[in-house]
Amino acid sequence: MTTPSFRQAVPSDTDRCLEIETSAYEGDEAATREKIAARIDQYPQGFLVMELDGEVIGFVNSGCAFEVLMSDEAFKELVGHDPEAPNVVIMSVVIDPAHQGKGYSSLMMRTFVSRMSGMGKKTLHLMCKERHVALYKHLGYRYVKPSSSDHGGMSWHEMIMAI
Ligand SMILES: CC(C)(COP(=O)(O)OP(=O)(O)OC[C@H]1O[C@@H](n2cnc3c(N)ncnc32)[C@H](O)[C@@H]1OP(=O)(O)O)[C@@H](O)C(=O)NCCC(=O)NCCS
Repeated sequence: MTTPSFRQAVPSDTDRCLEIETSAYEGDEAATREKIAARIDQYPQGFLVMELDGEVIGFVNSGCAFEVLMSDEAFKELVGHDPEAPNVVIMSVVIDPAHQGKGYSSLMMRTFVSRMSGMGKKTLHLMCKERHVALYKHLGYRYVKPSSSDHGGMSWHEMIMAI
């Protein structure tokens, strides 16, 4: 496996991230350009991009909260986000479909955990579809409960990891 590199997102990554988000997420699960731009603008420290040979091939983005409410739609545009808060809410975890299944998401998520831990964060929260529950358990997350969100017309599950 060629070794990818990692860095914080910058505004000029918006269109490439949108392209990956749109090609990897189904239907209206994908975040809009406005949401991606807001996440880069407001919390670049929590927006990690992975590059391979100079091309962005995946990313993870997030916001922080004192009280996590996973079904809060406004939070997806970082309304209510507080960079000082200890709990990280992950919004997108995505790898370009051309590079999926090669272990890159494990590497990206481990890199993200280590960066968040280094920033003093205490917990990571995410929502995933049924088919990714086992993957996140494998990465160290614990199952919390089915989510009340029907984002994108699908059912979701809440997962958490203490770091
Ligand atoms: C989810 C996604 C990021 C995974 O990326 P990927 O490149 O296919 O995943 P990887 O190949 O890195 O696999 C991740 C790890 O989970 C493991 N894994 C994968 N499926 C698994 C399963 N069903 N059970 C247990 N472990 C599993 C892999 O073995 C790998 O672990 P390893 O590196 O220790 O061997 C990718 O499929 C994607 O972008 N999907 C669209 C967006 C999405 O739905 N994101 C998740 C929503 S929260």
